Amino acid sequence: MKKDVVVIGAGAAGMMCAMEAGKRGRSVLLVDHASKLAEKIRISGGGRCNFTNRHTVPENFLSQNPHFCRSALARFTPRHFIELVEKHRIRYHEKKLGQLFCDEASQQIIDMLRSECEAAGVIFQMPCEVSRIDRDSGNTGFVLETSCSKVMADALVIATGGLSIPQIGASPFGYRIAEQFGINVTALRPALVPLTFAPEQLSAFSGLTGIALDTIVSCNGAHFRENLLITHRGLSGPAILQISSYWRPGDPIHINLLPELDADDWLRDRRHSGVLLSNLLAQHLPRRFAEAWLGAMMGGLPETPVNQYGNKSLRQLAPQLHAWQVIPSGTAGYKKAEVTLGGIDTAELSSKTMESKKVPGLYFVGEVVDVTGQLGGFNFQWAWSSGYAAGQSV
Ligand code: FDA
Repeated sequence: MKKDVVVIGAGAAGMMCAMEAGKRGRSVLLVDHASKLAEKIRISGGGRCNFTNRHTVPENFLSQNPHFCRSALARFTPRHFIELVEKHRIRYHEKKLGQLFCDEASQQIIDMLRSECEAAGVIFQMPCEVSRIDRDSGNTGFVLETSCSKVMADALVIATGGLSIPQIGASPFGYRIAEQFGINVTALRPALVPLTFAPEQLSAFSGLTGIALDTIVSCNGAHFRENLLITHRGLSGPAILQISSYWRPGDPIHINLLPELDADDWLRDRRHSGVLLSNLLAQHLPRRFAEAWLGAMMGGLPETPVNQYGNKSLRQLAPQLHAWQVIPSGTAGYKKAEVTLGGIDTAELSSKTMESKKVPGLYFVGEVVDVTGQLGGFNFQWAWSSGYAAGQSV
């Protein structure tokens, strides 16, 4: 079989690239080893797919080259994707902070992409394993051995995503192909992932699983005002998922437990109060958390009335409330991570087309590239924008 373009990976970026190439009249084969189409889209956004973010800017992305994503994001914007969603009469809503979700189900986004691909003449081949990729004899195209057929292609697009959630088909395929062709891959690690703690650090908070707090969480210059969730293994919730992308083993993170207050003023104003300190904190924090936190901070003194603490002890408490320092022992890993940080080195690719500088005709799109979005619809926007960029070039 001979095709103009073969795209490996029928996820978000792969389908976007395939449909755009198809619309330009290219013959396109889309290959995936999974038997179910785009499982990651299906499970995304709690089943409602946070498909983009209205406020997307390059600053929402992490990469060794923070400017790399600019060109693709400018050419295919959230507005373009919203137009597509509206064309397919998919109803959606903004949850918060520009995050757009389907009203009904993520499956609608999958159906939309599939029907756009089919209308553009894209052929799907799945489940299908790619066992070997070589340059053709003229060194301009590619020859692929797959479990379905032997295929020749002028252009090859790798859209196989990252390593998160291996149970639904994630694989290191894209990184291996990069290695085969001498293309650099930056260090990989799980991101948008819960953080874990050693059992002794957790003991004070056992029994608090499920408690959520409004916080500002900071690490290495980044900070996020979002909910934090206590889990049986550590901390999760949007604030922690966001900060996990900036955290490296050994780093402390700081948690502002009272983002709305100046704790120093607040405690000073109440220094003559006969109320128990834990009761005072429970005015702004969940009671059980306030008790456990004070117990951990003050060595079992929470049952003391506020007026029995010296001014000095109260003053020392304020910075702790605004910058509680914790040092995670690790992350919950790729099984729980939403994305993989790092990937194909952007120095190896054209930012306009996603084509390899070393291997003409070879493209990388989506999460496999070293461009990682923050939480909030940015990762799909990168998949659409990078897929579109390659789709215009292949
Ligand atoms: P994607 O993973 O979508 O697709 C890769 C495809 O390649 C898959 O179909 C896979 O089967 C295939 N493949 C892999 N190895 C292969 C091989 N060896 N041979 C053939 N095919 C192979 N983002 C966001 O913006 N909003 C959200 O709401 C969410 N929610 C969310 C929830 C959860 C639980 C997770 C895990 C992730 C998210 N994300 C998200 C992140 C988002 O899903 C992710 O960044 C994009 O799906 C990446 O799109 P890609 O097309 O690059 O990879």
